[in-house]
Amino acid sequence: MYFGQPINKLFGGDPITGMKKLSVDLGDRSYPIYIAPGILSDPASYLPHIKGSQVLVITNQTIAPLYLKQLCSALAGFSVSTLILPDGEEHKNIETVQQIFDRLLKDKYNRTATLIALGGGVTGDMTGFAAACYQRGVAFIQVPTTLLSQVDSSVGGKTGVNHPLGKNMIGAFHQPNAVIIDTETLTTLPEKELSAGLAEVIKYGLIRDPEFFEWLEDNINHLLERDNEYLVEAIFRSCKNKAEVVAEDEFESGVRATLNLGHTFGHAIEACQGYGNWLHGEAVSAGTMMAADLSRRMGWLSDDDVGRIMNLFEKCRLPTRPPIGMGPDDFLQKMMLDKKVLDGNLRLVLLKSLGEARVCVDIDPVLLRETLPPPN
Ligand code: NAD
Ligand code: GLY
Repeated sequence: MYFGQPINKLFGGDPITGMKKLSVDLGDRSYPIYIAPGILSDPASYLPHIKGSQVLVITNQTIAPLYLKQLCSALAGFSVSTLILPDGEEHKNIETVQQIFDRLLKDKYNRTATLIALGGGVTGDMTGFAAACYQRGVAFIQVPTTLLSQVDSSVGGKTGVNHPLGKNMIGAFHQPNAVIIDTETLTTLPEKELSAGLAEVIKYGLIRDPEFFEWLEDNINHLLERDNEYLVEAIFRSCKNKAEVVAEDEFESGVRATLNLGHTFGHAIEACQGYGNWLHGEAVSAGTMMAADLSRRMGWLSDDDVGRIMNLFEKCRLPTRPPIGMGPDDFLQKMMLDKKVLDGNLRLVLLKSLGEARVCVDIDPVLLRETLPPPN
């Protein structure tokens, strides 16, 4: 049992720097994840992972004034350019990625170029997609600055953009060379964004790590207060779970789909509300409650289990119900666009118990209708 033990003793970590390191094991495409306060401006974090001498750092208007100078100071000796994109999910599209290609071609970047994504999941997904496509693939490094991107989107190599008809519908798998997580960047993160990231942290406990779920129940206030030691711990444990799943099923032919708990309902919410109006993590929170409700109707979760999940999301000030005005047909129509739909069959990630997820087909349509909100 690890409850009550000093938190750093749980998983180790460098006794001097406090840095924690993990590996995503993918053979010759394996890469490290470094987690520590202050590593953004440490040259040693980047040097082993930069190919060639041409580096393009891609960020957005919000992050640039906060962290771009610090990052660039670590890259002395390289030919570094920066590209500042507009901020927001509504800009996560092919036109914005075109701006990256324009810059790479105009400045004659070649195949040994390295792209660095500095920002949240939107920046990381677009930079990764550009890296996957440019000259059929160049290296890239993820420097995630939101909690959500630190625990989820920067790890695992899913990259892409939205299409007006569906979220993340255009994309590629392309693994980064390294993920560099500086927990100090979270000091400037708006509260709503911190909460949205916690939805993905809670997800790992729910789908495969019941001990971590209990740890979160006990320690959620430390995370909401942004206690650095607890943040490092929660990010480490989340990344460890994600790295294990990705190593087992990189291209999502099986267990990786469980990382999408709540996402099929959540993506429907995001698409109906307009991208950017509900944060991704907020939609995942409400979507996870819908998945939990359906799991209860199927006899897998108890009322008490559902109450514990709801309690944790509520403490994080996350929505636990779908938005007012969305009816069952809005959900079903958008859910059928989900990437997990195979041959016209809806597949949903549900909870067999707290800490164990299943990908389900042949879902009883009556139970599903009961979980969806009533018609308006
Ligand atoms: P985001 O990138 O839009 O960032 C949220 C907001 O916070 C933005 O306004 C950003 O500029 C700002 N911000 C970022 N870091 C900051 C900091 N340190 N201080 C102050 N402000 C900061 O959103 P997100 O939640 O990071 O990512 C959501 C995106 O990630 C979605 O597009 C989603 O589809 C994608 N995603 C991808 C994967 C994957 O596996 N690739 C997984 C989950 C989510
Ligand atoms: N965020 C889900 C995945 O990476 O598979």
